[in-house]
Order: sequence, then C-alpha cells, then structure tokens
Amino acid sequence: MKLEALAALFSLLAAANAHEGVFGRHAAIAQKRQDTTSSVSSASSSVSSSLASSQTSQASTTSSQGATSAVSSASATSAPVAPSAPAGPPATGANGVPPLSQITSGMPAGTTYAASETFPAGSTPSFSGAPPLPTPFVFSPGNWPAQDKIPPTDSPEVQEWIKELDGVNIPDFAPTVDGSCGGDPAAAAQAEQRGWWTCGGWTGPEDITMCPEKLTWGISFDDGPGPYTQKLLDYLDTKNQQATFFVVGSRCIERPQLLIEEHMAGHEISVHTWSHHALTTMTNEEIVAELGWTRKIIKEVLGVTPTTMRAPFGDIDNRVRAISLAMGLRPIQWTRFNGFAYDTNDWKVAAGTVSPTDQMATFNSILGNATLMDNGFIVLEHDLYEQTVDLAVGYTLDAARTHNPPFKLQRIGECMNIPLTDMYLETTTNTTFPAHRDTNTSGDPNGAANQSSGARSLTSPAVSVIIAAGMAVVGGSLLL
Ligand SMILES: *[C@@H]1O[C@H](CO)[C@@H](O)[C@H](O)[C@H]1NC(C)=O
Ligand SMILES: *[C@@H]1O[C@H](CO)[C@@H](O)[C@H](O)[C@H]1NC(C)=O
Ligand SMILES: *[C@@H]1O[C@H](CO)[C@@H](O)[C@H](O)[C@H]1NC(C)=O
Ligand SMILES: *[C@@H]1O[C@H](CO)[C@@H](O)[C@H](O)[C@H]1NC(C)=O
Repeated sequence: MKLEALAALFSLLAAANAHEGVFGRHAAIAQKRQDTTSSVSSASSSVSSSLASSQTSQASTTSSQGATSAVSSASATSAPVAPSAPAGPPATGANGVPPLSQITSGMPAGTTYAASETFPAGSTPSFSGAPPLPTPFVFSPGNWPAQDKIPPTDSPEVQEWIKELDGVNIPDFAPTVDGSCGGDPAAAAQAEQRGWWTCGGWTGPEDITMCPEKLTWGISFDDGPGPYTQKLLDYLDTKNQQATFFVVGSRCIERPQLLIEEHMAGHEISVHTWSHHALTTMTNEEIVAELGWTRKIIKEVLGVTPTTMRAPFGDIDNRVRAISLAMGLRPIQWTRFNGFAYDTNDWKVAAGTVSPTDQMATFNSILGNATLMDNGFIVLEHDLYEQTVDLAVGYTLDAARTHNPPFKLQRIGECMNIPLTDMYLETTTNTTFPAHRDTNTSGDPNGAANQSSGARSLTSPAVSVIIAAGMAVVGGSLLL
C-alpha cells in the first residue's frame, strides 16, 4: 500500500473516532515502517502486509489523531487532551488490572485516574540542591511548536540552541531515509561506520545500555505522560519503587501536572524528543529542535534540565549522539544480549500485533537471559497506552520482583551509580558528566562505534522484517 493511501486511511479513521489520539500515531508510525519495508523486499512483503492488515483493523476501533491536535485558547493551563474514555468492566486480575488474556488492543477503556497529589509552586523535590517548582506552567500555543510535528528550525530558540554545536565534531552523514535498515540500504551498508544502533546494535562509548550490577533492572517508561500514567505512578508509589521516564515534549504540554508528580516522587526525567520521530532521518538543525524544545518544556514545568535522552525507536547513530552530547544529553538505549533486544513488545499489544501472553513470554525470556548476564539490564516499556500500563502494573514488574533469583529494580541513573543530582544540569556536581563535547582532537567518528555483545539478530517481528528486507537489498553478508 502506498504511504499516501495509508495516510488518507488513517486520517479517515481519525475523523471517525473520538478516542485518545496518541495511539493512532504510534500505529501509523509502525505502519509506515512496515510499508517501507515491503516496498523494498518482496521476500518479506507477505509478513509485512499481514502485520499491516491487523494493525489497520485494530486502528479502526481506537485511533484518532484529531483529538490532541486541536489547539486551545491561550488562557488554557495546558494543551488540550481527549476527554476521558468511559469506564470499562470491573477489573479482576492482579493489582486492579484485567486478567492477562484480556489486555488487548480492543479491550474497553478502563478508569482514568485522578491526580493523587498536586504540588504548588515552591514545593521542593527531596534530592539535594533541587530547585523549588516554578510557577505553574501555562500553555500558550504561540510559544510552542505544533504537537507531534518536527519543529521548524528558523525560530529564535532553535537558532540559539544550534550554537551549542559550535566547535563540536558532528559526523557528516546524510540523514537516513526513514530510520529503518530496509528503507535505506545505503546507510545500512555503512551501519558500523555510522554507529547506527537500528541496524545491528552499534553503540557509542557514552551510551548507557545496561546496569553494571548483575540481577539489577534499570526500569523505564517511554512516550508519556499519558492518560494512564497516573495508574502506573500510584502502583510504583505503593511499592516504594522509582523509575526513569523518557518523556515526549508534545505530551508534557498536555499533562504538566503528571510530569511534576513524577519528579516529586523521585523518578528520573529524561528527554525523549518533541514529536517522537526517528532522529536519524532529520537534519542536524531538526535534531537540535527536537531535543531543545523538550529540554525547554521540562525546565519550564520542573525547573530542571535533564542530562540524558533516549532516541525514539532507539534510532541513534554517531551524528545524533554527537548532537545530543553537545546539548548536554547522554544517550540511554536498552540492553541487547546475545542478539536479543530487551524490548517487551508491550506497545505491540496496544497496536494489536502481539498477544498479551506472547508479550509475557518475551518478558520472561528477557528475565531468563538476564540471569545469564554478568551485568544488570535495561528494558523498553511504555506508559503511553492503557495496555502497556496494565502489563507493567499487573504483570512484568511483579514477575521481576518474585523471580527466583529476584531482581533488584532501580531507576536507570541509580543503577548506573549516577546520583539523582547528576541527572539534571542545575544540580549536577560532576564536571565531566554529562556533556562530553567531542572536540576535533578526538578525530575519527568511526572510532566511536561499537556493537553490544553478540548483537546478530533481533527478535521483534517488525524489526526482523526490516532486517530481512535490508538483507535482501544489500545481499545479507553486510548485516548479519
Ligand atoms: C572542528 O571541525 C569543524 C569541521 O569539521 C570545523 O568547522 C570547526 O571549526 C572545528 N572546531 C575546532 C574547535 O577546531
Ligand atoms: C568496544 O567493545 C570492546 C569489547 O566489549 C571494548 O573492549 C572496547 O573498549 C569497546 N570500544 C569502544 C570504543 O567502546
Ligand atoms: C533467552 O532468549 C531467547 C529468545 O531470544 C529464548 O529462546 C531463551 O529461552 C532465553 N533464555 C532463557 C534462559 O530464558
Ligand atoms: C562523573 O561522570 C563520569 C562520566 O559518567 C564518571 O566516570 C565519574 O565517575 C563521575 N564522577 C563522579 C564523582 O561521580
């Protein structure tokens, strides 16, 4: 199917539905990547289209892009959000979430949770030297880029942030076509030189990809704050458990109170871009805009600026790394071990392409493999969708805690022995962390690339399809 046709289909679905919009965007992104893949590889096209059709039929029940794109009046205190969904049937599974088999893309929307606590301006987070919360954030559409779009680069803000790259050696790679290996065989053939994580798991020396201590899980949640994040926060609170939240700027303007609650509860806040598009596809200036606006909204809401970031889809290369580091943001990925990427596939349950029991099987494989590692590990999970929150609250977190041997659950910075103070620019006392400015003396950008242990293949179906397509195009031997 042509991309334009898909886009038209998704906007029709969007117009016909009044539910939360973020889901549709994610499905659309996954759809786009699979579509690209099928166009370059006939060998994998049947797999792609079967995934595609299940996503499309799923999308018809839940997708809406319209709800969050409406712009509110300047007097609103935060960006517009979709109305709460009607309450679903009573939950009967673990921790107040449905039984595992019922956590599916088509499940009735459950209760949305009210903020458990509000924090007035001047409230102070518990960690040493933390600045008090600023005056409450007031959303004014004229002050921010459009939601979920790559921000323009000609604004005074972005022009100012671009100066942070002065004197920094940014590798001179062309942006990738679509952030997938199959979509850009030429870039995929240079994956090692580019240090491109997406195609073969290449990492840079500054990347955080695992926790040093064995049997330790650095837990994180991506893409929020969302309508069900509160449910996750309430659960974490009951367990006296903290996590790292990779937040999207376009979501932060919708739910600044949730961002505050995360911060006040001692969770770590990290940059996950403004629009959640693949960073390797962007120009240097666009990458600066994505990171800069997200730093800015977090600073305005919380009074602190993160010193870490995660690339959407993990799509990072040495160019994106150099820009992130120049902007004071150290990359955090997730673990790969023996070619197994520690992605729970929770978002594919929300997308309707993976069953909840298969997701738990993947998660149990992650735990099984983690017991074989000399280090601890980092896993990809999401707080954006009700399904992914339910899987975490009802199943994955408890599975790790009750596993034999049990795992220690920590924030990612915490498991790295990075004090919470060093997770923010305003409070860090470490003069060498975070910003490692790759000045020209360090020379060869190729030298930064490395591959995590034994990364030879990936397990997620969508990524496997992309890899398969990449192989078909470049002849196999370069990638695997
Ligand atoms: C680093 O190299 C770039 C070109 O690669 C150059 O424009 C810049 O001036 C150099 N910076 C320093 C500090 O030497
Ligand atoms: C690459 O990995 C090897 C083996 O894990 C390690 O010895 C080496 O220091 C790494 N190089 C870089 C640049 O990270
Ligand atoms: C490790 O992961 C693989 C799947 O990638 C799985 O087949 C295997 O059973 C796992 N090992 C353990 C000990 O769980
Ligand atoms: C400062 O950060 C660097 C880089 O992460 C680290 O190697 C070093 O141990 C840190 N120093 C302190 C005092 O924490």
